[in-house]
Amino acid sequence: MTEAVQTPHVGKAQFTPRVFSGIQPSGGLTLGNYLGALKRFVAMQDEGMETIYCLVDLHAITVWQDPERLRQQTREAAAAFIAAGIDPVKSILFNQSQVSAHAELGWIFNCVARLGWMNRMTQFKDKVGKNAENASLGLYAYPSLMAADILVYHATHVPVGEDQKQHVELTRDIAAKFNHDYKVDFFPLTAPVIEGAATRVMSLRDGSKKMSKSDPSDQSRINLTDDADTIAAKFRKARTDAELLPDTPDGLDGRPEARNLVNIFAALADISVEEVLAQYAGQGFGTFKPALADLAVAKLSPISTEMQRLMADPAEIDRILGNGAERADAIAQPILARTLDIVGMIRSRR
Ligand code: TYM
Repeated sequence: MTEAVQTPHVGKAQFTPRVFSGIQPSGGLTLGNYLGALKRFVAMQDEGMETIYCLVDLHAITVWQDPERLRQQTREAAAAFIAAGIDPVKSILFNQSQVSAHAELGWIFNCVARLGWMNRMTQFKDKVGKNAENASLGLYAYPSLMAADILVYHATHVPVGEDQKQHVELTRDIAAKFNHDYKVDFFPLTAPVIEGAATRVMSLRDGSKKMSKSDPSDQSRINLTDDADTIAAKFRKARTDAELLPDTPDGLDGRPEARNLVNIFAALADISVEEVLAQYAGQGFGTFKPALADLAVAKLSPISTEMQRLMADPAEIDRILGNGAERADAIAQPILARTLDIVGMIRSRR
């Protein structure tokens, strides 16, 4: 285990190691989601900790979603999780809105988090650009709901890509302020787990931009649903430079597109960047890109085939999500109830 995955302490309280993470069902999943998050979720399923994975539909509606498409995309994301190797018996897999404790704790955290903290969130600023006046209040408060997602399970470990690091740090700030203000050792200081060769997969068209489902150009990303020909064509057309591959990772400095493709190769093949370079040093992209495309097709097409099979039975997906939500709710409700007691709410309903 790395240092990042040791059990955090708050005062004298000890927390059982528990993993929580989520993905927005606001469009198809990309290779970035797969390598930065989903593939890591599958690996953590076998590390001896309880694992809870969530399709965060309440986060998705912070920007407009067509209702029928949202339902469809939530099922498709669930199918992607299962096809990629999440076992819904070993892990808890559910959609966020079926466990109301997230939204309830989210409100309490809205009263703990400070405006100054929210104003520093780079993802909000990047998303709204100059158009902040027109953004939803939900988009602004989003990181506080994310803190609730994590802390309503007392989760100690949160596997995410690099872009979510600031949000997990905010989660620690919220937990620490809550514990301090109410003089309790109640919420853990959660650690982000950002591991692997592809914690920040970049656009195939521009090595300075993150690969994203919201990029207007479909050529910029690999979708988990792309077929073999599309994957091969996208890697063939991916922007690169005219140099040969170096023999050490330092040789990729200042070559963001080349570094990105090497990182993707390493993550897909489960080897280090050094091992990729030991194999391809001195070769050009004419050789490397087809090898990368073959590797990506070999790893991704079984996932997309299995997704299609699962999508043929949406009722079964809904059943799995409902079952996961019941298991999640059983963990979240007592933690929410104790939070309400700490805050001073009367709970006298039978
Ligand atoms: P989302 O839906 O944007 O992304 C889901 C996960 O995929 C990772 N990711 C990437 N990793 C590497 N390279 C990329 N290009 C790339 N693009 C996306 C993200 O880092 C993330 O791990 N706020 C979160 C969802 C969320 C959440 C949570 C996560 C809500 N509540 C609680 C963890 C814990 C989000 O929008 O992720």
